[in-house]
Amino acid sequence: MENGHKDVVILAIESSCDETAAAVVRNGREVLSNIISSQIALHTLYGGVVPEIASRKHIEKINQVIEEALRQADMDLSQIDAVAVTYGPGLVGALLVGVSEAKAIAYGAKKTLIGVHHIEGHISANYIENKDLQPPFLCLVVSGGHTHLVKVADYGTYEILGRTRDDAAGEAFDKVARAIGLGYPGGPKIEKISKEGNPDAILFPRAKVAENPYDFSFSGVKSAVLNYINGCHMKNIPIVQADIAASFQKAVTDVLIEHAMLAVEEFQIQKFAIAGGVASNGTLRIGMQEACEKKGVQFYYPSPIFCTDNAAMIGTAAYYEYLSGKQDGWDLNAIPNLKLGER
Ligand code: KG4
Ligand code: ZN
Repeated sequence: MENGHKDVVILAIESSCDETAAAVVRNGREVLSNIISSQIALHTLYGGVVPEIASRKHIEKINQVIEEALRQADMDLSQIDAVAVTYGPGLVGALLVGVSEAKAIAYGAKKTLIGVHHIEGHISANYIENKDLQPPFLCLVVSGGHTHLVKVADYGTYEILGRTRDDAAGEAFDKVARAIGLGYPGGPKIEKISKEGNPDAILFPRAKVAENPYDFSFSGVKSAVLNYINGCHMKNIPIVQADIAASFQKAVTDVLIEHAMLAVEEFQIQKFAIAGGVASNGTLRIGMQEACEKKGVQFYYPSPIFCTDNAAMIGTAAYYEYLSGKQDGWDLNAIPNLKLGER
């Protein structure tokens, strides 16, 4: 490090869902390696993630993935300072593989162990390529399991302003994709086919939640798509996949952007970031960029590889935990429903 401090090198592990991932991150924002072994092809056969298969695949792959992460970073265990791992939320069997592995490595190599919240990881992905980004900022986390509007008050300090009441945004993409016959994972497939469709062809509902303007609800739009398809079948009207996909994508992204901008107005924070798998969606990015520009707000987003599940984001989040002195004991466990900001 330039100022004479010793470098902090973290080996990070992520196995909360269907990616087995390991990364080596130096001083929080320098990714030396980022290895991701995706199980998507396997789960596609079943139309979604099968938890038991995910756990079994993690256990098969995890050692190779970690070895490759160290090799690409040109590091051995003696050169790392800490082992970080996602310990929740996620699929319990999948999480346990990463947590057990991280504990074994940290214990054997006498390194600090740091458990990381998966959403904190997604938010922290923004630090990797935006070297100037520092809290406070607002962040919309949109993934297959979560839809959270968060105020990042400081590193490790989060205030949840709103969350989904039912389906997560990515989950809605996945369910609608299945309903119109596109298969899994739905998000990228809907985005692709939408390019050939008319986003104004069908007016799907934009749900508001009365009690909290920052909360989301996506089950209504999903049902509206299903009803629309049934209606077409009954009236013998052909289904235009591209128009349904584009109109659905517009309905979801409109709501996300509207709620995000409400928070910008209320909290007067001039920085807004997006995170999670759905943050790689082009319509959402362009819409957010335009909306932020109008309000004079700086907009941040990670490259697609750092939006979907990866371990580099876990290493970045762990770095700030490490600086704050956080360390976990050998009793660290997987917590499938871990809440953001809780320890
Ligand atoms: O963050 P992530 O990899 O895993 C979770 O933590 O859930 O997010 C996966 C979700 C899936 O629901 C997937 O369909 C969605 O992100 N997704 C997208 C796109 N790429 C991935 N949704 C919309 N547009 C995309 N381009
Ligand atoms: Zn995720």
